[in-house]
Amino acid sequence: MSFFLAFIHRQFIYTPPAPTASFKGKTAIVTGASSGLGKEACRWMVRLGASHVILACRNIEKGKAAAQDIEATTSCPSGTLDVWHLDLSSYKSVQAFGDKVKAELPRLDVLIANAGIGTRKWGVTEDNEETITTNVVSLFLLAFLVYPKLRETAAQYHIQTHFTITASELYEVAKFKERKAPAGQLFATLSDKSKSSMSDRYNVSKLLEVFMVKQMASMSPLGSKNVIINCVAPGLCDTELARDYSGAAVDLAKKILCRPSEVGARTLVYGASAGPESHGQYVPDCKIKPTGGLTKGEAGEKLQKRVWVELRDKLEGILPGVTTMS
Ligand SMILES: NC(=O)c1ccc[n+]([C@@H]2O[C@H](COP(=O)([O-])OP(=O)(O)OC[C@H]3O[C@@H](n4cnc5c(N)ncnc54)[C@H](OP(=O)(O)O)[C@@H]3O)[C@@H](O)[C@H]2O)c1
Repeated sequence: MSFFLAFIHRQFIYTPPAPTASFKGKTAIVTGASSGLGKEACRWMVRLGASHVILACRNIEKGKAAAQDIEATTSCPSGTLDVWHLDLSSYKSVQAFGDKVKAELPRLDVLIANAGIGTRKWGVTEDNEETITTNVVSLFLLAFLVYPKLRETAAQYHIQTHFTITASELYEVAKFKERKAPAGQLFATLSDKSKSSMSDRYNVSKLLEVFMVKQMASMSPLGSKNVIINCVAPGLCDTELARDYSGAAVDLAKKILCRPSEVGARTLVYGASAGPESHGQYVPDCKIKPTGGLTKGEAGEKLQKRVWVELRDKLEGILPGVTTMS
């Protein structure tokens, strides 16, 4: 199916089913849970019996309001929800969050790395353009920091735990012209305004997520580690993501085209409870799908290796030893 026909099917014909998997006794972290898909994924997991859901938010007040809203609609026992500070635009904040997970959580069954931005405006946080810091570098810094807790929980309770990323169908149309950069210069080029294409930037960030899901899964085989690593795509949803764009036309387009965020969030919950067959896979709309675009074939494999090597060097520069998945 072409990208366009798949879009029509997704937005007008197919509705992801309401999740039914049990989260009884489970502890989950959802990043970017103050609004949109992250907040609705938390609500679903609480309804499905989760014991402890941590809303990882950069804005604590907004996170608390989201938690209160979930409490009011689910009547969950007090203490089910917690709001922890996490700002992905700061490596220090990500490291502090990782330390807190290590020190304070007796178990962790699910990490949904959902927080993300989509902007065409150039901005810099840490040493990158901000989409790359938020959607890629900090996301994987967090993933490597939290991975040991997922692995330990799987071993301790003889279960499989989940690391799920909210990717996007748009990874498939990424042009990623910055990949022409000389070896070792991928992230430097993505951080060079004169060499970057901001109209493609969000798509590139989602492509890098898909590559890294495949890579991390290959480094963490099921059986010995038992952390299921996958990524999902929720379809076009009515959330705050397009906050840079406003006006009557945008509102109308949202009404006609978008899924409610509660419906899109079903795909996140599906990924966070999917079976071992989803390890390393792209799971849009609750079904595993082979990846396309720049991930295809030998060239795709080569590009994946390159993305991994250059991201690994970057993460090791931030925190030496962090990418060791032992
Ligand atoms: N909506 C769609 O159509 C769609 C489609 C495909 C994929 N996605 C993906 O879905 C994910 C969730 O987005 P959404 O659509 O639910 O949009 P959203 O309502 O804007 O939610 C994004 C969340 O990420 C948080 N966030 C942004 N920057 C952050 C940072 N530096 N540190 C910590 N948290 C940060 C936001 O926090 P604040 O509340 O403080 O801003 C918010 O909670 C994103 O990864 C997005 O790429 C969305």
